[in-house]
Amino acid sequence: MRVFSSLATLSSGAARHVAERARDAVAARGRFTWVLAGGHTPEGLYRKLAERYQTDFPWRESEVFFGDERCVPAGSPLSNYSMARDALLRHVPIPAGRVHRLRGEVRPPSEAAATYRRLLDRLALRGDGTGVRFDLVVLGIGPDGHTASLFPGSSALRERQRTVVALRRSGQPPWVPRLTLTLPAFASSREVLFLVAGEEKADVVARVLRARPPGNPNLPASRIRSAGSVRWFLNRSAASHLSKGLLSS
Ligand code: 6PG
Repeated sequence: MRVFSSLATLSSGAARHVAERARDAVAARGRFTWVLAGGHTPEGLYRKLAERYQTDFPWRESEVFFGDERCVPAGSPLSNYSMARDALLRHVPIPAGRVHRLRGEVRPPSEAAATYRRLLDRLALRGDGTGVRFDLVVLGIGPDGHTASLFPGSSALRERQRTVVALRRSGQPPWVPRLTLTLPAFASSREVLFLVAGEEKADVVARVLRARPPGNPNLPASRIRSAGSVRWFLNRSAASHLSKGLLSS
């Protein structure tokens, strides 16, 4: 866990961390597979990467996926893809064929989920038998403990096999169907990085970090696992309800 003085320093620290992970992955395995988060918090990370890591980042060897998407038209400002495209993807030399959008415009959404499952197995799953798909997964958290589009009580939390599912109705505005990667998909990662900022997240961060395995179905973020490590990058206000013991972890 790392606590930063502000969202700006959290974004800079996260950009440095992601760039290090990317360089390590490419040095070790020739490519970097990365799952992007939606929402507002990661936008600062994406902008920092676009500003400072045009060259010192293996963009041509990166493969970008998305943790979830709203079922809205492709160019809709409501889509997580649009935010990432405008903040990062259109500003860096990542080949277009290596940006893998969840196609929220496809109907029925279950068809888009099936297509993405096949893509993840074809493109991300390595033949090394480890079952690892992603070098890094970036996630946010809502005040209700949701992450990606895994909301408290969602049937998607019981998914043990499929890596991507469609949800008829999301647990927060915009009230649209969604596509989301599932717990087994996120678990097939070398690292999960939660980026959290804001006083309104302080309570849920403390509850999630206090939750004991196997995690609380009413706190989806507490159910997130990784084949490697789960890290938290917080700003001071998001960390303000953490006891000394939790802060040192
Ligand atoms: C989304 C995200 C969602 C987000 C949290 C936190 O589609 O909105 O997948 O899980 O990460 O809601 O959002 P903020 O970063 O905007 O607080």
